[in-house]
Amino acid sequence: MGENREEGFICMNNIKVEDRDHGIRVILIDRPKALNALNTETLLELQKVLKETAVSSEIRVVVLTGGGEKAFIAGADITEMMGKNLSQGISFAKVGQEVTRLLESLPQPTIAMVGGFALGGGAEMAIACDFIYASDSAVFGQPEVGLGVIPGFGGTARLSRFVGLPMAKDLIFSGRKIKSDEALRIGLVNEVVKRSELNDFVMKRAQQIASHSAGAVRACKRVMNEFEETHGIDYKLDMEAQEFGSLFGTKDQKEGMSAFMEKRKPNFEGVSLKESK
Ligand code: CAA
Repeated sequence: MGENREEGFICMNNIKVEDRDHGIRVILIDRPKALNALNTETLLELQKVLKETAVSSEIRVVVLTGGGEKAFIAGADITEMMGKNLSQGISFAKVGQEVTRLLESLPQPTIAMVGGFALGGGAEMAIACDFIYASDSAVFGQPEVGLGVIPGFGGTARLSRFVGLPMAKDLIFSGRKIKSDEALRIGLVNEVVKRSELNDFVMKRAQQIASHSAGAVRACKRVMNEFEETHGIDYKLDMEAQEFGSLFGTKDQKEGMSAFMEKRKPNFEGVSLKESK
Protein backbone atom coordinates (compact mmCIF):
# COMPACT_ATOMS: atom_id res chain seq x y z
CA MET A 1 0.00 0.00 0.00
CA GLY A 2 1.96 3.09 -1.22
CA GLU A 3 1.42 6.14 0.94
CA ASN A 4 2.69 9.72 1.13
CA ARG A 5 1.84 12.01 3.99
CA GLU A 6 2.36 15.70 4.55
CA GLU A 7 0.56 18.22 6.75
CA GLY A 8 -3.15 17.96 5.89
CA PHE A 9 -2.72 15.48 3.00
CA ILE A 10 -2.57 11.72 2.67
CA CYS A 11 -1.95 10.28 -0.77
CA MET A 12 -2.39 6.52 -1.31
CA ASN A 13 -2.43 4.53 -4.56
CA ASN A 14 -6.19 4.89 -5.01
CA ILE A 15 -7.39 7.52 -2.58
CA LYS A 16 -6.47 11.06 -1.61
CA VAL A 17 -7.35 12.67 1.69
CA GLU A 18 -7.35 16.41 2.24
CA ASP A 19 -7.98 18.13 5.55
CA ARG A 20 -9.52 21.52 4.81
CA ASP A 21 -10.31 24.46 7.08
CA HIS A 22 -13.00 24.11 9.77
CA GLY A 23 -12.12 20.43 10.39
CA ILE A 24 -13.56 19.19 7.08
CA ARG A 25 -11.88 16.03 5.79
CA VAL A 26 -12.40 15.23 2.10
CA ILE A 27 -11.79 11.60 1.10
CA LEU A 28 -11.52 11.23 -2.67
CA ILE A 29 -11.57 7.88 -4.48
CA ASP A 30 -9.14 8.40 -7.32
CA ARG A 31 -9.21 5.70 -10.01
CA PRO A 32 -10.90 7.73 -12.77
CA LYS A 33 -9.84 5.34 -15.57
CA ALA A 34 -12.00 2.63 -13.95
CA LEU A 35 -14.63 5.21 -12.94
CA ASN A 36 -13.35 4.87 -9.35
CA ALA A 37 -14.43 1.21 -9.14
CA LEU A 38 -13.63 -0.35 -5.78
CA ASN A 39 -11.00 -3.07 -5.90
CA THR A 40 -9.64 -4.70 -2.74
CA GLU A 41 -6.66 -2.35 -2.54
CA THR A 42 -8.93 0.71 -2.61
CA LEU A 43 -11.21 -0.80 0.03
CA LEU A 44 -8.25 -1.50 2.33
CA GLU A 45 -6.97 2.05 1.87
CA LEU A 46 -10.40 3.41 2.74
CA GLN A 47 -10.56 1.13 5.76
CA LYS A 48 -7.25 2.47 7.06
CA VAL A 49 -8.22 6.12 6.59
CA LEU A 50 -11.65 5.65 8.17
CA LYS A 51 -10.15 3.97 11.24
CA GLU A 52 -7.78 6.92 11.67
CA THR A 53 -10.62 9.38 11.09
CA ALA A 54 -12.79 7.76 13.77
CA VAL A 55 -10.32 8.56 16.54
CA SER A 56 -9.63 12.16 15.52
CA SER A 57 -11.15 14.93 17.61
CA GLU A 58 -10.04 17.57 15.08
CA ILE A 59 -12.04 16.22 12.16
CA ARG A 60 -15.60 17.51 12.43
CA VAL A 61 -17.19 16.53 9.12
CA VAL A 62 -16.21 13.96 6.48
CA VAL A 63 -17.00 14.37 2.78
CA LEU A 64 -16.68 11.29 0.55
CA THR A 65 -16.36 11.87 -3.18
CA GLY A 66 -14.93 10.52 -6.44
CA GLY A 67 -12.17 11.84 -8.70
CA GLY A 68 -12.64 12.80 -12.38
CA GLU A 69 -15.70 14.20 -14.11
CA LYS A 70 -17.77 11.09 -14.75
CA ALA A 71 -18.14 9.11 -11.59
CA PHE A 72 -18.59 9.12 -7.85
CA ILE A 73 -17.93 5.35 -7.78
CA ALA A 74 -19.12 3.00 -10.56
CA GLY A 75 -19.33 0.01 -8.22
CA ALA A 76 -17.16 -2.82 -7.02
CA ASP A 77 -14.41 -3.68 -9.49
CA ILE A 78 -15.93 -6.17 -11.93
CA THR A 79 -12.53 -7.07 -13.41
CA GLU A 80 -11.37 -8.22 -9.98
CA MET A 81 -14.66 -9.92 -9.04
CA MET A 82 -15.06 -11.88 -12.27
CA GLY A 83 -12.96 -14.93 -11.34
CA LYS A 84 -13.97 -15.21 -7.69
CA ASN A 85 -15.46 -18.37 -6.19
CA LEU A 86 -17.96 -18.69 -3.33
CA SER A 87 -15.57 -18.14 -0.41
CA GLN A 88 -13.71 -15.37 -2.23
CA GLY A 89 -17.05 -13.74 -3.02
CA ILE A 90 -18.01 -13.79 0.67
CA SER A 91 -14.60 -12.41 1.71
CA PHE A 92 -14.84 -9.60 -0.85
CA ALA A 93 -18.32 -8.64 0.38
CA LYS A 94 -17.05 -8.66 3.97
CA VAL A 95 -14.22 -6.24 3.18
CA GLY A 96 -16.62 -3.86 1.44
CA GLN A 97 -19.15 -4.23 4.24
CA GLU A 98 -16.55 -3.43 6.85
CA VAL A 99 -15.84 -0.17 5.01
CA THR A 100 -19.52 0.76 4.82
CA ARG A 101 -19.93 -0.15 8.49
CA LEU A 102 -16.97 2.06 9.42
CA LEU A 103 -18.44 4.91 7.40
CA GLU A 104 -21.85 4.49 8.96
CA SER A 105 -20.48 4.40 12.49
CA LEU A 106 -17.95 7.22 12.23
CA PRO A 107 -18.60 9.60 15.12
CA GLN A 108 -18.43 12.56 12.72
CA PRO A 109 -21.22 13.43 10.26
CA THR A 110 -20.51 12.12 6.76
CA ILE A 111 -21.69 13.57 3.45
CA ALA A 112 -21.52 11.75 0.11
CA MET A 113 -20.79 14.34 -2.62
CA VAL A 114 -21.98 12.60 -5.80
CA GLY A 115 -21.10 14.27 -9.10
CA GLY A 116 -21.59 11.34 -11.50
CA PHE A 117 -22.22 7.59 -11.53
CA ALA A 118 -22.96 6.07 -8.11
CA LEU A 119 -23.67 2.46 -9.00
CA GLY A 120 -23.60 -0.84 -7.15
CA GLY A 121 -20.93 -0.72 -4.43
CA GLY A 122 -20.64 3.03 -5.17
CA ALA A 123 -24.27 3.69 -4.32
CA GLU A 124 -23.73 1.50 -1.26
CA MET A 125 -20.86 3.73 -0.10
CA ALA A 126 -23.11 6.77 -0.56
CA ILE A 127 -25.95 5.32 1.53
CA ALA A 128 -23.52 4.39 4.31
CA CYS A 129 -22.93 8.16 4.68
CA ASP A 130 -25.37 10.20 6.74
CA PHE A 131 -26.80 11.81 3.62
CA ILE A 132 -26.12 12.58 -0.02
CA TYR A 133 -25.80 15.81 -1.99
CA ALA A 134 -25.72 15.25 -5.74
CA SER A 135 -25.14 17.14 -8.96
CA ASP A 136 -27.69 17.36 -11.74
CA SER A 137 -25.47 14.94 -13.71
CA ALA A 138 -25.47 12.21 -11.04
CA VAL A 139 -26.84 8.75 -11.81
CA PHE A 140 -27.71 6.18 -9.15
CA GLY A 141 -28.47 2.48 -9.36
CA GLN A 142 -28.00 -1.04 -8.03
CA PRO A 143 -27.31 -2.92 -11.27
CA GLU A 144 -25.97 -6.11 -9.63
CA VAL A 145 -28.73 -8.48 -10.77
CA GLY A 146 -27.72 -7.66 -14.36
CA LEU A 147 -24.30 -9.09 -13.50
CA GLY A 148 -25.75 -12.24 -11.92
CA VAL A 149 -25.14 -11.16 -8.30
CA ILE A 150 -26.76 -9.01 -5.60
CA PRO A 151 -25.65 -5.82 -3.81
CA GLY A 152 -22.84 -6.93 -1.51
CA PHE A 153 -21.73 -3.85 0.43
CA GLY A 154 -24.89 -3.35 2.51
CA GLY A 155 -27.36 -2.17 -0.15
CA THR A 156 -29.96 -4.81 0.66
CA ALA A 157 -29.97 -3.64 4.28
CA ARG A 158 -29.58 0.14 3.92
CA LEU A 159 -31.33 1.31 0.75
CA SER A 160 -34.79 0.93 2.27
CA ARG A 161 -33.83 3.37 5.06
CA PHE A 162 -33.52 6.07 2.42
CA VAL A 163 -36.35 5.21 0.04
CA GLY A 164 -38.62 2.69 1.83
CA LEU A 165 -38.82 -1.05 1.18
CA PRO A 166 -41.00 -1.13 -1.97
CA MET A 167 -38.85 1.47 -3.76
CA ALA A 168 -35.65 -0.30 -2.63
CA LYS A 169 -37.01 -3.53 -4.10
CA ASP A 170 -37.99 -1.71 -7.30
CA LEU A 171 -34.45 -0.36 -7.71
CA ILE A 172 -32.63 -3.58 -6.74
CA PHE A 173 -34.85 -6.02 -8.69
CA SER A 174 -34.90 -3.88 -11.84
CA GLY A 175 -31.29 -2.73 -11.63
CA ARG A 176 -32.43 0.46 -13.35
CA LYS A 177 -30.37 3.62 -13.28
CA ILE A 178 -32.05 6.79 -12.07
CA LYS A 179 -31.08 10.42 -12.58
CA SER A 180 -30.68 12.87 -9.75
CA ASP A 181 -34.15 14.44 -10.16
CA GLU A 182 -35.75 11.04 -9.47
CA ALA A 183 -33.24 10.36 -6.69
CA LEU A 184 -34.35 13.63 -5.07
CA ARG A 185 -38.03 12.82 -5.50
CA ILE A 186 -37.74 9.40 -3.84
CA GLY A 187 -35.63 10.69 -0.94
CA LEU A 188 -32.34 9.07 -1.89
CA VAL A 189 -30.55 12.43 -2.04
CA ASN A 190 -31.10 15.52 0.09
CA GLU A 191 -30.33 18.19 -2.51
CA VAL A 192 -29.38 18.45 -6.17
CA VAL A 193 -27.30 21.35 -7.52
CA LYS A 194 -25.49 22.13 -10.77
CA ARG A 195 -22.29 20.13 -11.28
CA SER A 196 -20.19 23.32 -11.28
CA GLU A 197 -21.69 24.39 -7.94
CA LEU A 198 -21.57 21.07 -6.10
CA ASN A 199 -18.23 21.45 -4.37
CA ASP A 200 -18.96 24.97 -3.00
CA PHE A 201 -22.45 23.93 -1.95
CA VAL A 202 -21.22 20.89 -0.03
CA MET A 203 -18.37 22.81 1.61
CA LYS A 204 -20.81 25.50 2.82
CA ARG A 205 -23.11 22.89 4.33
CA ALA A 206 -20.15 21.08 5.88
CA GLN A 207 -18.92 24.36 7.39
CA GLN A 208 -22.35 25.02 8.82
CA ILE A 209 -22.27 21.65 10.59
CA ALA A 210 -18.65 22.19 11.67
CA SER A 211 -19.50 25.56 13.20
CA HIS A 212 -21.67 23.93 15.88
CA SER A 213 -20.62 22.07 19.01
CA ALA A 214 -18.84 18.95 17.75
CA GLY A 215 -19.93 17.12 20.91
CA ALA A 216 -23.59 17.98 20.35
CA VAL A 217 -23.48 17.02 16.65
CA ARG A 218 -21.81 13.69 17.47
CA ALA A 219 -24.43 13.03 20.16
CA CYS A 220 -27.22 13.66 17.61
CA LYS A 221 -25.66 11.14 15.25
CA ARG A 222 -25.18 8.54 17.99
CA VAL A 223 -28.77 8.80 19.15
CA MET A 224 -30.31 8.92 15.67
CA ASN A 225 -28.28 5.90 14.49
CA GLU A 226 -29.26 4.01 17.62
CA PHE A 227 -32.95 4.72 16.93
CA GLU A 228 -32.51 3.46 13.36
CA GLU A 229 -31.19 0.19 14.83
CA THR A 230 -27.87 0.27 13.03
CA HIS A 231 -26.66 -2.26 15.59
CA GLY A 232 -29.08 -4.87 14.26
CA ILE A 233 -27.46 -4.50 10.87
CA ASP A 234 -24.68 -7.04 11.46
CA TYR A 235 -27.05 -9.98 11.02
CA LYS A 236 -28.37 -8.48 7.76
CA LEU A 237 -24.88 -7.82 6.43
CA ASP A 238 -23.79 -11.37 7.17
CA MET A 239 -26.80 -12.77 5.34
CA GLU A 240 -26.12 -10.45 2.40
CA ALA A 241 -22.46 -11.56 2.22
CA GLN A 242 -23.45 -15.24 2.26
CA GLU A 243 -26.01 -14.71 -0.52
CA PHE A 244 -23.59 -12.54 -2.52
CA GLY A 245 -20.87 -15.19 -2.20
CA SER A 246 -23.22 -18.05 -3.05
CA LEU A 247 -23.75 -16.55 -6.50
CA PHE A 248 -20.05 -16.60 -7.31
CA GLY A 249 -19.17 -19.56 -9.46
CA THR A 250 -22.70 -19.77 -10.89
CA LYS A 251 -23.02 -19.66 -14.68
CA ASP A 252 -25.07 -16.47 -14.48
CA GLN A 253 -22.39 -14.61 -12.47
CA LYS A 254 -19.66 -15.67 -14.92
CA GLU A 255 -21.90 -14.74 -17.86
CA GLY A 256 -23.03 -11.41 -16.36
CA MET A 257 -19.54 -10.19 -15.58
CA SER A 258 -17.98 -11.53 -18.80
CA ALA A 259 -20.72 -9.77 -20.76
CA PHE A 260 -19.87 -6.48 -19.03
CA MET A 261 -16.17 -6.86 -19.84
CA GLU A 262 -16.96 -7.83 -23.44
CA LYS A 263 -19.40 -4.90 -23.72
CA ARG A 264 -22.37 -7.07 -24.73
CA LYS A 265 -25.74 -8.12 -23.30
CA PRO A 266 -25.66 -11.10 -20.93
CA ASN A 267 -27.45 -14.30 -21.82
CA PHE A 268 -28.63 -15.66 -18.47
CA GLU A 269 -29.56 -19.31 -17.94
CA GLY A 270 -32.08 -18.75 -15.20
CA VAL A 271 -32.28 -20.30 -11.80
CA SER A 272 -31.59 -23.95 -11.12
CA LEU A 273 -33.37 -25.83 -8.34
CA LYS A 274 -30.10 -25.82 -6.37
CA GLU A 275 -29.89 -22.01 -6.58
CA SER A 276 -33.56 -21.32 -5.79
CA LYS A 277 -34.59 -21.76 -2.18
N1 CAA B 1 -15.52 -2.31 -12.46
C1 CAA B 1 -14.45 -2.31 -13.25
N2 CAA B 1 -14.28 -1.47 -14.28
C2 CAA B 1 -15.26 -0.58 -14.50
C3 CAA B 1 -16.42 -0.50 -13.70
C4 CAA B 1 -16.52 -1.43 -12.64
N3 CAA B 1 -17.57 -1.42 -11.80
N4 CAA B 1 -17.21 0.48 -14.17
C5 CAA B 1 -16.57 1.01 -15.23
N5 CAA B 1 -15.40 0.39 -15.43
C6 CAA B 1 -14.40 0.66 -16.46
C7 CAA B 1 -14.89 0.14 -17.82
O1 CAA B 1 -14.61 -1.26 -17.96
C8 CAA B 1 -14.07 0.99 -18.77
O2 CAA B 1 -12.78 0.46 -18.84
P1 CAA B 1 -12.01 0.43 -20.27
O3 CAA B 1 -11.84 1.89 -20.62
O4 CAA B 1 -10.73 -0.27 -19.94
O5 CAA B 1 -12.91 -0.31 -21.22
C9 CAA B 1 -13.97 2.34 -18.02
O6 CAA B 1 -14.26 2.06 -16.65
C10 CAA B 1 -14.97 3.35 -18.52
O7 CAA B 1 -16.26 2.75 -18.47
P2 CAA B 1 -17.23 2.67 -19.76
O8 CAA B 1 -16.44 2.67 -21.02
O9 CAA B 1 -18.18 1.55 -19.53
O10 CAA B 1 -17.95 4.10 -19.61
P3 CAA B 1 -19.41 4.46 -20.10
O11 CAA B 1 -19.54 5.95 -19.94
O12 CAA B 1 -19.72 3.88 -21.43
O13 CAA B 1 -20.41 3.75 -19.04
C11 CAA B 1 -21.11 3.12 -16.84
C12 CAA B 1 -20.36 4.14 -17.71
C13 CAA B 1 -22.61 3.12 -17.19
C14 CAA B 1 -20.92 3.51 -15.38
C15 CAA B 1 -20.54 1.69 -17.12
O14 CAA B 1 -19.11 1.76 -16.98
C16 CAA B 1 -21.02 0.64 -16.18
O15 CAA B 1 -22.13 0.16 -16.35
N6 CAA B 1 -20.19 0.24 -15.21
C17 CAA B 1 -20.49 -0.85 -14.31
C18 CAA B 1 -21.52 -0.42 -13.28
C19 CAA B 1 -21.89 -1.61 -12.42
O16 CAA B 1 -22.44 -2.60 -12.88
N7 CAA B 1 -21.61 -1.52 -11.11
C20 CAA B 1 -21.90 -2.54 -10.15
C21 CAA B 1 -20.73 -3.46 -9.98
S1 CAA B 1 -21.14 -4.89 -9.02
C22 CAA B 1 -21.10 -4.36 -7.42
O17 CAA B 1 -20.86 -3.20 -7.14
C23 CAA B 1 -21.37 -5.43 -6.43
C24 CAA B 1 -21.48 -4.98 -5.06
O18 CAA B 1 -22.49 -4.49 -4.61
C25 CAA B 1 -20.39 -5.20 -4.14
